[in-house]
Amino acid sequence: MNILVTGGAGYIGSHAVRQLLKASHSVVVYDDLSHGHKESIAAASSGLKTSAEFVQGNVADSKLFTDTLNRYSIDAVMHFAAFIEVGESVVDPEKYYRNNFTNALSMLHSLRSGPKNGVKKIVFSSTAATYGNPLTSPIQEDHPLLPINPYGRSKMMTELAIRDFAHAYGLGFAILRYFNVAGASPEVEGFGLGEAHEPESHLIPRVLAAAAGKSAAIGIFGTDYDTRDGTCIRDYVHVDDLAMAHVLALAKIQDGKGEVYNIGSQNGFSVREVIRACEKATGKTIPVEEKPRRAGDPATLVASSDKIRKELGWTPKYPDLETTVSHAWKWHQSHPMGYKSSR
Ligand code: UFG
Repeated sequence: MNILVTGGAGYIGSHAVRQLLKASHSVVVYDDLSHGHKESIAAASSGLKTSAEFVQGNVADSKLFTDTLNRYSIDAVMHFAAFIEVGESVVDPEKYYRNNFTNALSMLHSLRSGPKNGVKKIVFSSTAATYGNPLTSPIQEDHPLLPINPYGRSKMMTELAIRDFAHAYGLGFAILRYFNVAGASPEVEGFGLGEAHEPESHLIPRVLAAAAGKSAAIGIFGTDYDTRDGTCIRDYVHVDDLAMAHVLALAKIQDGKGEVYNIGSQNGFSVREVIRACEKATGKTIPVEEKPRRAGDPATLVASSDKIRKELGWTPKYPDLETTVSHAWKWHQSHPMGYKSSR
């Protein structure tokens, strides 16, 4: 298939680009490079026979987006482009509603005027943050959506729009609700594909930055949660396993129909446990500093991923947190300044 990947120069998007190329799809990366890195597109295809095309643009630029759909005869879109920081979304909700919802709606509108009577397949990057504070755990896909921060609400609103577009206009969809994603692809020589957010807000890369001596300590945001050690529990999945889930989900999409899948490991790790795993993987003692809670954080988010395992045969290749962390560490060491680093 000809696939357009919005946000394909970002962390998860670029890993998905690689798995799509490996599965013999033709890929066009559509990214405004506001957060993505052009270097990651080349890294995604390193060692492969084909590489992705690149178009620089924002999905809100309907003319460029529609022209791109037509120029490359796009069959399916994977929509990764979004802002992703829970804490920031509480402080600046408009930024999140505008980019994650309004721009996504504009993108959905453009799909209707795409090639062959419109693009009829979409894989959408959604999030565990749509569930809010879970009523049951591990969380299943039919759990009510009760997001507690604007980030989660902006993603939920796009999910609802996609469902309505499916019903009314025959769009086929797969909504993937990610839990916490980490690691780097071990397939790329020299660990040349990895996580480079600016600023970095995620736990694992921040812990590794402290391990590397780039920060004095890792701050733990809240030690009084109702969890086994008082810190938040999250479910971590390796980025290559997440990327593979996109390839599997795409293959099953039918016009006008859709499915929702959680992508997680079914195992929860507290912030303190993640820090210990990082100490083991790096062989370093990592100083910690206890801090107040971060706004918008649910205490525990752990996925049931039974549905995607059963229906799509998804089996994580890297189910173990320490392996995931050790891959992130290898990327971090070879790229201490992200894609700006020269090796
Ligand atoms: N944390 C710290 N210190 C830090 C950074 C994070 O204690 O320096 C804590 C957070 O407070 C949270 C946990 O580590 O309790 C994980 O935080 P992340 O920022 O790494 O990830 P989030 O769980 O907030 O969010 C991530 C993605 C979202 C996704 C969500 C689903 O960024 O897109 O996982 O669980 F929706």
